[in-house]
Amino acid sequence: EAELLHTFKGIPFTTRSSPELLKSLDTFDAREDDVLLVSYPKSGTHWLAGVLAKLYNTQVTITSPIEFGDISRLEELNKLSSKRIIPTHLDYNMLPPNFKKKKCKMIYISRNPKDTAVSMFHYYRDNPNLPTVDTWTAFFDLFLKGNVVCGSWFDHFLSWEKHEDENNILFLFYEDMKKDLPKVVKDISLFLSLNVSDSDIQDICRKSSFLEMKNDTEKENNDPSHTVCALTSNKKLIFRKGAVGDWKNYFTPKQNIRFQEIFNEKMKLSKMADNFIY
Ligand code: PPS
Repeated sequence: EAELLHTFKGIPFTTRSSPELLKSLDTFDAREDDVLLVSYPKSGTHWLAGVLAKLYNTQVTITSPIEFGDISRLEELNKLSSKRIIPTHLDYNMLPPNFKKKKCKMIYISRNPKDTAVSMFHYYRDNPNLPTVDTWTAFFDLFLKGNVVCGSWFDHFLSWEKHEDENNILFLFYEDMKKDLPKVVKDISLFLSLNVSDSDIQDICRKSSFLEMKNDTEKENNDPSHTVCALTSNKKLIFRKGAVGDWKNYFTPKQNIRFQEIFNEKMKLSKMADNFIY
């Protein structure tokens, strides 16, 4: 049970990320046309991967997160002949330096941390590859302490926000995708210099709805974006509720005050804190 997580450079990883692989990330070879899909877990990674898969229309391979697996996986990634979309939950400081040197395009998606916490709570509860948590109360404390897989939400977000002005990084918000997906898809296509028509965008959005994506998990050859999570083969666990504000069904008033205090303190220098008002 306790051995389901191990710590590397101060951050908890599951045993699916071998220490040898984590150590080798420093020398991993990037390609100029790699696209990184970066997120703290439970922020909409699969949703965005689904959009990217449709935007590139099978011309790309979406891999599982670069930090998942044993060292042989890096060799496999090296051998891929297609363009690569590489997801990762790594914090900026742990990212293989070659992605930075080559100025690869990176898309960082984030989500209101309260909803992220609730989503992660369910994932912990339902996924045998993660430690057991008995109650929401217990998980709430772990999350605030950053004592969960991939560490502190705040540290993750802030490590990336520091690089907000670099023009190879695009910041997206889950709640914006809920509010106006066509606009976000348009922004992504411009960022990636992809030529897509308005009707393509409509089509992509229709196929990327929560229900479409959830139903797609039941098909034999489902969308390649579904490979993104290496922590479960049960894709149903990923498509749980897909809502904004579900935290209100879990946070007690006291927990909300405590969360807000810590949020205000940690995010006091953040220029993007206002994006997490939901
Ligand atoms: S993981 O395991 O870290 O890769 O999970 P991730 O994909 O980042 O996040 C899972 C949450 O995203 C929701 N989701 C969606 N919401 C809206 N629309 C679509 N199409 C969609 N696809 C996935 C998913 O339901 C998880 O959130 P919760 O709140 O648990 O439902």
